[in-house]
Amino acid sequence: MASPEGNKLWGGRFVGNIDPIMERFNASISYDQRMWQADIKGSKAYAKALQKAGLVTQNEMEQILTGLDKVHDEWSRGEFKIKDGDEDIHTANERRLKEIIGDPAGKLHTGRSRNDQVATDMRLWLRDGISTLKEQTLQFINTMVERAAVEIDVLFPGYTHTQRAQPIRWSQWILSHVVPLSRDVERLEEIRKRTNVMPLGSGAIAGNPFNIDRELLRKELNFDSISINSLDATGQRDFVAEFLFWGSMCLTHLSKMAEDLILYNTKEFSFITLSDAYSTGSSLMPQKKNADSLELIRSKAGRVFGRCAGFLMTLKGLPSTYNKDLQYSFLMQEDKEAMFDTFDTVHAVLQVATGVISTLEINQKTMEEALSPDMLATDLAYYLVRKGMPFREAHSCAGKAVYIAESKKIPLNQLTVEDLHTASPLFDCDICTVWDYSSSVEQYSSPGGTAKCSVTAQIEHFRSWLRTQRQ
Ligand code: ARG
Repeated sequence: MASPEGNKLWGGRFVGNIDPIMERFNASISYDQRMWQADIKGSKAYAKALQKAGLVTQNEMEQILTGLDKVHDEWSRGEFKIKDGDEDIHTANERRLKEIIGDPAGKLHTGRSRNDQVATDMRLWLRDGISTLKEQTLQFINTMVERAAVEIDVLFPGYTHTQRAQPIRWSQWILSHVVPLSRDVERLEEIRKRTNVMPLGSGAIAGNPFNIDRELLRKELNFDSISINSLDATGQRDFVAEFLFWGSMCLTHLSKMAEDLILYNTKEFSFITLSDAYSTGSSLMPQKKNADSLELIRSKAGRVFGRCAGFLMTLKGLPSTYNKDLQYSFLMQEDKEAMFDTFDTVHAVLQVATGVISTLEINQKTMEEALSPDMLATDLAYYLVRKGMPFREAHSCAGKAVYIAESKKIPLNQLTVEDLHTASPLFDCDICTVWDYSSSVEQYSSPGGTAKCSVTAQIEHFRSWLRTQRQ
């Protein structure tokens, strides 16, 4: 008597029907169908390895390969029909293959398990996803670097604690957001290395009993190496966790940049004007032009971090090897959902961020008018240092000068030499050279500083870094 679940890949030992709620709860096809291409690629490679191991004939292998090409065509034309009982992408593709070629389809899964299959599919999928995100991040960095080159002469206030600190170049600010993103690119490369390891040939847990040529599989699928241990290969998702952390960090960097720009875009600052293309209005207040693009960029960091934290919680309680927790059900979010969602979110954010940066306008005059003499109080101390005074003492004398100006309710640069003498006798009429924002900025010429030569060096550094990244 045929078992009620006899059509399922695993139906043989079952006598009762699966509860329809459980069936839906268990199914992953609604989202893992995104890996259809990786799944077919893996199966084609596996068919070749089966033939080499003598488990399918040359003719059967050819039928399987042709059949899988047809399944591939159906997916790419959007004609693949998912049927009830297609639990996941692996089941769906094999079911369709059987409809197309008949019996030989039943040999494809010899020695393979969905456990090594899904791990292989995910790694293939993520490997491509990583390449896409890397290219996008490089494009964004390129946009930032070229903007920094064009606007290198613009000065504006640098802030710490959101308080005016010292004058800096606008390009120094731009590049300060490029540096962490360049680290993100390098981190992504590291993750790619650890992702690009092939689990196929690990079976469900113990390995492959048919002497399958894993090196052949590796070459076919373009993996860098072969997994070392079958339990680890089928049960580990640390490559996903790393990717989720990567997304969280990258978006945290972009969130910081967005937050600065949101402030700079306010009427109070008015340093920049966001393009209409990346702003939205209010349904009630006609005057409003909101920086929604930047607010959304800022918010997405939280979303992706939520995925990362949630996924780590899932991993934390697991024993070794494959457990269904590693899947997702329609009620919860686990590995594939988290992986796809993180990819989609970072992908969208990078696109929008590139658009925002390439279209925003800076208001150079406002930026420069926002510089104020109090921001040169440090320079006053450096003036004394250059006359031989120890810095601690110089800091205190400059502090006194600030106090005098505040008590007299005048800007720091309006203090007379006599006023300054009460702070230190070393102050002289050459003090007027201090009150110049350009020369203030130019003194920071050590590598990494905000002087023009140093900012130019940073730009050159990133231009050549971008070239090597793209090779
Ligand atoms: N759909 C499953 C997943 O996405 C495939 C692996 C199923 N393995 C199992 N032993 N039930 O993880």
